[in-house]
Order: sequence, then C-alpha cells, then structure tokens
Amino acid sequence: MQTILVLHGPNLNLLGMREPVIYGATTLEAIDQRLREHGEARGAVVSSFQSNWEGALIDRIHAARQDGTEGMIVNPGGLTHTSVSLRDALAAAALPFIEVHLSNVHAREPFRQVSYLSPIALGVISGLGARGYELALDYLLDKA
Ligand code: DQA
Repeated sequence: MQTILVLHGPNLNLLGMREPVIYGATTLEAIDQRLREHGEARGAVVSSFQSNWEGALIDRIHAARQDGTEGMIVNPGGLTHTSVSLRDALAAAALPFIEVHLSNVHAREPFRQVSYLSPIALGVISGLGARGYELALDYLLDKA
C-alpha cells in the first residue's frame, strides 16, 4: 500500500494541551508530520485530516473511496463509542483501516471499552501513545 489517509476525530486537534497525562505531550501537527516523513522515506503518500464534526469525517471517508486511498489509520476520538454513522461510512468505503487510540481505552471508563468500529477494523492499537500511529502505518505499508 502506498497511499494512506490518517483520520483524526473530535478534540484531537488539542493534542499536546489536552489532558497530557492521558494523551501525551505530542501535538497533532507533530504526529502528522512524522507520519508524512516516515511515509515519504518508504515511498508512500500519507495525508491527514482532522475534524470535530462527524459529518466532515464521513464526507472525507466517502471521498477516500475515489481518490486513490488504499488504507486508513483512524482515531475516531469519542465517536469510537457512539457513532453508527462513522462505522457505516467506513464499511461503505470498504478500505482496510487500523483503529488507533493514544490511551488504553480498555483501562478507562466502561463507556470507552465499547467501540462501534473495532469489529470492521483490520486491527486495533490502543495505549501506545503517538507510537501507535507509526506502528499502524508500518503495518499498512508492509501490506501488499
Ligand atoms: C481516544 C480515546 C477516546 O475514548 C477519547 O474520546 C478520545 C481519544 C484516544 O486516542 O485515546 O478522544 O480515541
């Protein structure tokens, strides 16, 4: 896979400032830049999109069906635990995606332990901080 889309859901624009004990000190910009550079070094194109709006994320997923995207890395933020519509959009796109969470959602409140997306994800990485995105990217780039 050579063309990867990274999707960040609500509140992830505040990374670095938002509850750093839980989510770490790395900003979203730094995460995206690292992913882009890591992709470039491996001959791949990595683009990122963040929105606090469910509909904007869904529109971006719809666009991914036709813009050459081959795989996705998705941190849906709080929509993980609520959004049937986001799941339906991902199912409709039928592109392989890895669900990533900075924090270990399974070690937190019970409502975070339910994901509407995990059953249709290729895999899930949770609790490895910003490193989780890089591991997900390597996996997708290694995949034929
Ligand atoms: C999160 C976990 C979610 O429960 C939370 O709502 C987020 C971030 C994570 O990356 O750990 O916004 O997806």
